[in-house]
Amino acid sequence: MTSNAPIGIFDSGLGGLSVVRQIREDMPHERLMFFGDSANAPYGTKSVEEVRRLSFDIVERFVQQGVKAVVIACNTATSAAATELREHYDIPIIGMEPALKVAADAGHGERQNIIVAATPLTLRERKFAKLMHRFERDHTIYKQPCPELVEIVEQGELDDRERVMATLHGYFDSYDLDATDAVVLGCTHFVFYRDYFRELLPQGTAIIDGNEGTSHHLQVVLESLGALADENQEGSVSIANSSSSDRMIQLSEYLLHR
Ligand code: DGL
Repeated sequence: MTSNAPIGIFDSGLGGLSVVRQIREDMPHERLMFFGDSANAPYGTKSVEEVRRLSFDIVERFVQQGVKAVVIACNTATSAAATELREHYDIPIIGMEPALKVAADAGHGERQNIIVAATPLTLRERKFAKLMHRFERDHTIYKQPCPELVEIVEQGELDDRERVMATLHGYFDSYDLDATDAVVLGCTHFVFYRDYFRELLPQGTAIIDGNEGTSHHLQVVLESLGALADENQEGSVSIANSSSSDRMIQLSEYLLHR
């Protein structure tokens, strides 16, 4: 059995395009519909109730458009709304969380020093507290909110090396980076900064994100439902954004192919 219905993927803004990139690579036959809520970004500094309301509006529109699954390509919206969305809708809702487990497992039993970079909302929510609780006895975990990294992407300033490096130094200079085993990129916007992080961090510090894991999870779920696209179907990506500015779509295309 196959299904050629589209997959809805959304984020507070443009960060989720890093997830679209991964899914397109892993599942080239799927039709992907991305929605970036840039008019309401950032989510990471909003209340849980507001992010939940915005997430429900987006998923409701996807469902009206006949999607076979939704990917919340946003750690923040997942923290705020994934449980409630799953209770409300009967299509698969795939969420994201900071890939702390991947960072912890990489130590093969040795205590790891791990910095989790994410939005303020993700780091203060119960979902992350539960995740952290699983690993904090055996590992040293630091929580680092980085809201400015979301703004830089949304403002189209990702190529402003000076601004980016100054922002990263502001967030990370107080850590002993030589003693840091991994930095977890717990926000989909941050995945676009991988090369900058590489420049900031010592060679031995791993940079970990959850995009591959999310894409793999989506694939497993669709396969188990017999809902993967037909291999004869040509995959596609469509991009929509709540911002009325044409620039957001151009910026989205740029990030998707960057
Ligand atoms: N991209 C989002 C995430 O993964 C959130 C960015 C924002 O604050 O809007 O958490």
